[in-house]
Amino acid sequence: MRTLPESAKLVEVGPRDGLQNEKDIIPAAIKVELVDRLTAAGFINIEAASFVSPKWVPQMATSGEVMEKITRKPGTIYSALVPNMKGFEAALAARADEIVIFGAASEAFSQKNINCSIAESIDRFREVAQATKDQGLRLRGSISCALGCPYQGEVALDAVADVAMRLRDLGCDEIDVADTIGVGTAIRVQQVFERVAREFPIHRLAGHFHDTYGQALANIYAALEVGVSIFHASVAGLGGCPYAKGATGNVSTEDVLYLLQGLNIKTDIDLDAVVDAGQFISHYLGRKAASRAGNAIAARRANDPSKETAS
Ligand code: HMG
Ligand code: MG
Repeated sequence: MRTLPESAKLVEVGPRDGLQNEKDIIPAAIKVELVDRLTAAGFINIEAASFVSPKWVPQMATSGEVMEKITRKPGTIYSALVPNMKGFEAALAARADEIVIFGAASEAFSQKNINCSIAESIDRFREVAQATKDQGLRLRGSISCALGCPYQGEVALDAVADVAMRLRDLGCDEIDVADTIGVGTAIRVQQVFERVAREFPIHRLAGHFHDTYGQALANIYAALEVGVSIFHASVAGLGGCPYAKGATGNVSTEDVLYLLQGLNIKTDIDLDAVVDAGQFISHYLGRKAASRAGNAIAARRANDPSKETAS
């Protein structure tokens, strides 16, 4: 077995990636409570908002209100997705701590998701990146379809590395390698990270895995083996991308925490509090959480109230 990292950073993306695909508009108050619960659970980075066109993603139109009403914990980074300068101005007004520019390693997905080519997206991001740096904010870049595309199929390793280089050159502090449709498997995940790590430090690369094919936990383990220590996850396994039909949610945060606890990888996040947050939002949405560990822990507690903790 290769040496695994001693600690990992989990970026909770449920309030953004998790909820963006919900058809019925969720009241801002519910989103605020979700973010506040996640803050209390100990996350130091929560993707809380997305300042995109409300015509494209109506669910995120409440992002300004959410950012205004959340209770911020000093030191916690509240991130917002931004596709252009209009989004940047809104994110700045909403006091986002980190701006996330999001591109793709597949031309077809770039067109569907942000209505422009990869090259055009980088041109748009250049201005956003400069403005982000001028304001002294953190900049993160996300690469969709790094392990496969719903429209074009296979995506070459060099295509992922090429976008990573462009995002690096824009000054990204962190870069996400995203399996948008959850098609990746363990060896390919290692190959992608090893290729991208030739262009950008591995300790600033993040794994963003959707769990459509049930591979996300295996892929996280594979990524840990090659030295990745930042992962995105969504409470209750919420989510999906509106421009990647059939893609299910991100890997569930509860499942990832359970895995990391078992591997003795430190996160400083309270799994019990995350289970509660997952049950809270699932109850609101009227469906069972898509989290195996979350549901198991909740059921165990219900059956035996004396077992109040997850470990
Ligand atoms: P467009 O139609 O080419 O842009 O969309 P436009 O400049 O022509 O603007 C169209 C309208 O939107 C205009 O309004 C603009 O003002 C408005 P109108 O004049 O018609 O009334 N508009 C905006 N409004 C608010 N905020 C903005 C904004 N920009 C324009 N920032 C655009 C281009 C990029 C705007 C559009 O394609 C878009 O918003 N796309 C976002 C799609 C999206 O959010 N997808 C999901 C997030 S990505 C994801 O989930 C993947 C990820 O999780 C990683 C992974 O898993 O792969 C990150
Ligand atoms: Mg995603």
